[in-house]
Amino acid sequence: MQVNGDWVRIFDTTLRDGEQSPGCTMNVEEKVVIAEQLEALGVDVIEAGFAAASPGDFEAVSRIAAAVKKPVVLSLSRTREADIDEALRAVSGAANPGIHVFIATSQLHMEHKLGMSPDEVVDAAVWAITRAKQHVDHIEFSAEDASRSEPEFLYRVFGEAIKAGATVCNVPDTTGYAVPEQLRELFVGLRENTPGGKDVIWSAHNHNDLGLAVANSLAAVEGGARQVECTINGIGERAGNTSMEEVVMALKTRQHYYEIDSHIVTEQIYPASKLLARIIGVSVAPTKPIVGDNAFAHEAGIHQDGVLKNKATYEIMRPEDVGRTSNALVLGKHSGRHALASRFRELGIDLERIDFSAAFKRFKELADKKKDIYDEDLYAIAAEGADISARYELVDVQVNSSLQGGPRAEVTMLVDGDKRTEVAEGAGVVDACYRAIKTIAGFDPRLESYQVKGITGGTDALGEVSCLIREGEIRVRGHGSHTDIIMASAMALVDALNRYVYRVEGRARDEHIVGP
Ligand code: KIV
Ligand code: ZN
Repeated sequence: MQVNGDWVRIFDTTLRDGEQSPGCTMNVEEKVVIAEQLEALGVDVIEAGFAAASPGDFEAVSRIAAAVKKPVVLSLSRTREADIDEALRAVSGAANPGIHVFIATSQLHMEHKLGMSPDEVVDAAVWAITRAKQHVDHIEFSAEDASRSEPEFLYRVFGEAIKAGATVCNVPDTTGYAVPEQLRELFVGLRENTPGGKDVIWSAHNHNDLGLAVANSLAAVEGGARQVECTINGIGERAGNTSMEEVVMALKTRQHYYEIDSHIVTEQIYPASKLLARIIGVSVAPTKPIVGDNAFAHEAGIHQDGVLKNKATYEIMRPEDVGRTSNALVLGKHSGRHALASRFRELGIDLERIDFSAAFKRFKELADKKKDIYDEDLYAIAAEGADISARYELVDVQVNSSLQGGPRAEVTMLVDGDKRTEVAEGAGVVDACYRAIKTIAGFDPRLESYQVKGITGGTDALGEVSCLIREGEIRVRGHGSHTDIIMASAMALVDALNRYVYRVEGRARDEHIVGP
């Protein structure tokens, strides 16, 4: 909703800052799928990546630029010539291209990280903005570590950036150090004291190190920010970024207080959260506001009683408004293809991207085995039907374990199409299985974490396994789901191995570390 012609722009950086979180890397195809979902959400700006960081990032930015039509598509860029030119090339096919130039402005960063004087920082920012402005109109300038920079210096650097052509001024709390009242005042001061400060959009970019990113973003809006930078599920460097779903729903739910809203199609929030979790293999905590499993669940008797009498007693939002449905029991073994297809659509699953016949077959098999089919089951079924080209493919797993003999697993896999079988023993059947898989794969990454989740409860539930492996400096997460937890475990490791191969052979990301 637009109040007095004014609204809070949502700048989504899931594909750039979000992707900088360990275990959250995505391949180009996956990024395009997320970008399309961001367009369906109605975000105003998509930060598609950091084009100069790697060929993979460059390709992702240009593919997204070509794929989405409404939002501005940006690439991040340092103030270097090569960065600006790569960023410009990458967004050149966008309907609404933009460049996001950043340089650090705190004394600490200028002296110890950049080795530049304040004058040199101002010159570098002006030079980069001027160069980019010759080709695109939408230029965002970020003063990295702004919340720990001298306000007087910020007035100067932002003023020069605006003179050079910046249309959006971003004020990052890069280290998650700020507190709400301080940030609100900083924005008020910036708008008042920066030359040209009333003619640009001020933007808030908060990290969540103290758990204050959403509160800080809302305080920034009170101080005059009209853009919030955020990520789906709050993923991002260290403790993450401002969570898109939380800030959007806070504005919507407390509209009378803030007197301003975003343009987000809130019904697309839950599908977006699920899509991202499935792609990166990292699910949100059950208590995560808006999108967590328990966010709309009422357990206490007094609460249930209240909700039955009047939902408003304990619910401040309607699950439907964020795209959640509570009709978990609608689908069962009597449901047909039509019903499944329409439920997939409701859940935001793109039928063109999955093998629907395979998914329908899996659905029927599962419906025969278990009474209730939940949305989570459907997401898992769709993910299994998705077309993923991979080096390793699991063909079969046979395990046995008894009190007399050690646990043993026989695993058969395709490696680039060649069938291989290995037998291994281990401390348990999953361990044996993982040893056999690693022998077939020909390398031995360290298993850093292994998590099992029975998604829907009961012994016939679809089990979801995620594992985190590390080989050298590279850490990747894999994900698998199946009613048999051993199969789900094997699938998770094979998924992680495929993602590792993609990381190593698909692109070099070493340079990506340059970003904050
Ligand atoms: O946190 C930060 O400072 C950033 C900037 C590049 C905007 O991500
Ligand atoms: Zn950041």
